[in-house]
Amino acid sequence: MARKIIIDTDPGQDDAVAILLALASPDEIDLLGITAVAGNVPLALTQKNARIVCELARRRDVRVFAGCDAPLARPLVTAEHVHGKTGLDGPQLPDPTMPLADGHAVDFLIETLRREPSGSVTLVPIGPLTNIAAAFRAAPDIIPRVGQVVLMGGAYFEVGNITPAAEFNIYVDPEAADIVFRSGVDLVVMPLDVTHKALTSRSRVAAFRGMGTEVGRMVAEWTDFFERFDKEKYGAEGAPLHDPCTIAWLIRPELFTGRHINVEIELEGRHTTGMTVADWWRVSGRGANALFMGGVDDAGFYALLTERLARL
Ligand code: BDR
Ligand code: CA
Repeated sequence: MARKIIIDTDPGQDDAVAILLALASPDEIDLLGITAVAGNVPLALTQKNARIVCELARRRDVRVFAGCDAPLARPLVTAEHVHGKTGLDGPQLPDPTMPLADGHAVDFLIETLRREPSGSVTLVPIGPLTNIAAAFRAAPDIIPRVGQVVLMGGAYFEVGNITPAAEFNIYVDPEAADIVFRSGVDLVVMPLDVTHKALTSRSRVAAFRGMGTEVGRMVAEWTDFFERFDKEKYGAEGAPLHDPCTIAWLIRPELFTGRHINVEIELEGRHTTGMTVADWWRVSGRGANALFMGGVDDAGFYALLTERLARL
């Protein structure tokens, strides 16, 4: 039976690919809705971008809710330097015509988790954790009802991408991340340690373009755009497709390896705010609170992505 999920997102080209991968996989994934959050770009753009992506997949029926427009306790930090002014820079994209769903994303999260059978809904946050933490804070009764949280965020061996110590999604709202990591939910974390092993290459982008579909062309053009930044920064051959790793794990978990360990969020560090302090070597004596992933079969990941996106 397909797994019921809610994607919480700040599109972002790699967020867009994650949404498309979910929509292309109805046997495994039942997408109950998308909740948009401020992150890569402000909320006005992320909620719009989420609708653009649904329309690209000809899925105007997917409900897209707007959520929090700022982190819980800090001013918003955005990433136009990576994703461009719109968040989806690269191809020319039409404005969406499908409307936003009525209501606030946080209320949708709470109502859905209260309505659906306990343990049956998986949350997939691929942006800052503001919406999820706000829902947990407002309605703690939903926490034990969450089946699993499968998120993209954090780093250990790869350390930071927005500061020397912190990964972007956690850095933007560390207080929210702290609430989620301490909540006791069944947590799966896709950090930079994994996503920096899932790099695009000429032939992988050519495979997207070679699909000869609108979706294939868009994904190739998005990848071309954000590759420029990562290639320059890391000197790597390609760029990481971070966020689709979460959906790929839901479809084919055997592509990934990780460890059950303790992960704490640094809230006060002079240089390390937003760091995920991951006890990979199990030296702290603190109990495990996350399955922290570390490895990926990157060829298998791109084969899955290409096969699924070609369906759209
Ligand atoms: C994360 O930050 C965003 O820029 C990407 O969409 C991804 O979710 C990677 O650090
Ligand atoms: Ca994202």
